[in-house]
Amino acid sequence: MLNILVTGGAGYIGSHTSLRLLEAGHNIVVLDNLYSGHRWAVSEEVAFYEGDIQDKQLVADIIDKHEIEAVVHFAGHIVVPESVADPAKYYQNNVVGSLDLIETCIQKDVKHFIFSSSAAVYGIPSTATVDETVTLEPINPYGKSKLMTEWTLQDLGFAAGDDFEFVALRYFNVAGAHSSGTLGQATPEATHLIKVACEAACGKRNGMSIFGTDYDTPDGTCIRDYIHVEDLAEAHLDALDYLFEGGKSTIVNCGYGRGFSVKDVVKTVKEVSGSDFSVTMESRRAGDPPQLIADNSKIKKMFNWQSRFDDLETICRSAYEWEKSRG
Ligand code: UFG
Repeated sequence: MLNILVTGGAGYIGSHTSLRLLEAGHNIVVLDNLYSGHRWAVSEEVAFYEGDIQDKQLVADIIDKHEIEAVVHFAGHIVVPESVADPAKYYQNNVVGSLDLIETCIQKDVKHFIFSSSAAVYGIPSTATVDETVTLEPINPYGKSKLMTEWTLQDLGFAAGDDFEFVALRYFNVAGAHSSGTLGQATPEATHLIKVACEAACGKRNGMSIFGTDYDTPDGTCIRDYIHVEDLAEAHLDALDYLFEGGKSTIVNCGYGRGFSVKDVVKTVKEVSGSDFSVTMESRRAGDPPQLIADNSKIKKMFNWQSRFDDLETICRSAYEWEKSRG
C-alpha cells in the first residue's frame, strides 16, 4: 500500500484513477481546486483538500502529514480552443503550476511522479500511427503546455539524479464512463465528440455537427484513437508499479493503436442510444489533424498494460448510460 497524492482527483480521469487506486488498496489524498472537478466524484473516505497545486505550502503540508510517496498529477486545464484564446491561463496553470508542484515534490523528497500528458504534443503527425520518438510539434498552447511540463520533468528529474523518477502518459482520445455507473465525464460545455454525441442522443442539445468531411481518410472525417477511461486509469497503476520496481523516467503513449472516424462514432452512439439525433455536416475545425493513432507497443512491453474495454460500442454505451443517468 502506498500513500499517493492525486492532484485533480475530482476531475474526469482523476476520479476514475482515484477509484482504481483505492480498489488496489492504496491510500490516496486528493488535492483539487474544483475549477472543473466535482466533490461528489471523490469518495467520502478519501482525505480531500480544496486547493491549488501552486500553493506550495499546502502541498508541502499534505506531503508531510500524509507521508506521501508518489504524486499522480492530473490537475490542469484541457480545452484546446480556450488555450488558443487565452494562452496565459494555460501557461500559468499547466506549466507554472506543474513546475511549482514538481519542485515541491523534489524538495520534500517525493521520488515518484506520474504526469497526465497528451497526444496533443504531436501536433499533426506525418505517420499513420505515432510512437514516442517522432518529432513533437504541438499546434496549440494546450499541447505546448503539456510538452513544456514533460521538459520540466526531464530537466528537474535529471538535476535530481536518482532521487526523482517520473512517467508521463500521453493520453489519446479518452472517453466512456465507469462500469459501476457512479463516475463519468461531467465537464460542462464539453467539446469532445463522444460526450457531445451522447448529449445529443439524450436530447440535451439540438443535434450536433461533424466538422470536416473532406479529409483524406476513408469516409472523409477525422480518425482518432478512442480509449476507455477505465483502461487509462489502469495504465496509471501500471506506471506506479513500474516506478516502484525501480523503473527509470519514461514517456509512453496511452491508446489502443487503432482508429475510428467521426462518422463511425456518431453511428455507434445512434445505435447504442436508439436515438436518430440530427447531424449537420460543417467545415473543418481549426487545428484538427486528419488522423491520430497511438503506436502502443512501448506501454504494452514496458508495463505489460492490458486493455479490457477496447471496443467502440462499449465505450459509447458507457458514455451514453452515464449521460442519461445524469438527467
Ligand atoms: N468533432 C466533431 N463534432 C463535435 C466534436 C468533435 O466533428 O461536436 C470531431 C473533431 O473535429 C475531431 C474529432 O471529432 O475531428 C475528435 O474531436 P475531440 O474534440 O473529441 O478530440 P480531439 O481529437 O480534438 O482532442 C482530444 C483532446 C485533446 C487531446 C487529443 C489527443 O481534447 O486534449 O484528443 O488525441 F490532446
